Amino acid sequence: TVKAVIFDLDGVITDTAHLHFDAWRATAAEVGITIDEAFNDGLKGISRMESLQRILRHGGKEQAFNVDECRALAQRKNARYVQSLASLNEDALLPGIRDLLAELRLAKVKIGLASVSLNAPRIMQALGIVPAFDFCADAARVARSKPDPAIFLAACQGLGVRPEAAIGIEDAQAGVDAINAAGMLSVGIGHALHNADLHLATTTELTWHCLSGLWARTRG
Ligand code: BG6
Ligand code: MG
Repeated sequence: TVKAVIFDLDGVITDTAHLHFDAWRATAAEVGITIDEAFNDGLKGISRMESLQRILRHGGKEQAFNVDECRALAQRKNARYVQSLASLNEDALLPGIRDLLAELRLAKVKIGLASVSLNAPRIMQALGIVPAFDFCADAARVARSKPDPAIFLAACQGLGVRPEAAIGIEDAQAGVDAINAAGMLSVGIGHALHNADLHLATTTELTWHCLSGLWARTRG
């Protein structure tokens, strides 16, 4: 049977994707670069510094800033983002997530987190779900961003579960690719995701019934 379910954070557990977007948009505007929502979709699951590099490349300015200037830009983006998190609380859990966490606990399935966000610990605190998780991979210790499988493999290792015995849940293409590369079963939430083993429109449909059904059909 399935031994673990490993969640992405931004866009799966809570809807912080638009807050990242607002903070990047304001920071990009400071250096004369415009980004739209379609471009932002490609930044989902991508680490902070790599996101900055992509934005500068998008604006044709990848050579315009030295390392210190890049670090300062990334810090300003993060300050904006952290400020927008100030009012985050338990009400910001996406629909169905609290029930799913309870169902997984009852079914004795291990629960992990695989987010590349350095803000993940503070967000989990604010949402009040730290005790619901058995292991949260530490983004600061994982050098490679999604679509590299490293963060999902770190979560599997922390839970003591083989990747083949785990399901991963993602809202980003880079994240689905990371789950597949790890050898786990992938669930994609939202539109325009390719190669997920199961595709759901919203977290409302994300239930233990549907995850155990996926497992029975593919690995059972
Ligand atoms: C991911 C988000 O979860 O974390 C990305 O999807 C974000 O948009 C990345 O850039 C890194 O987040 P942070 O909080 O470390 O800047
Ligand atoms: Mg995400």
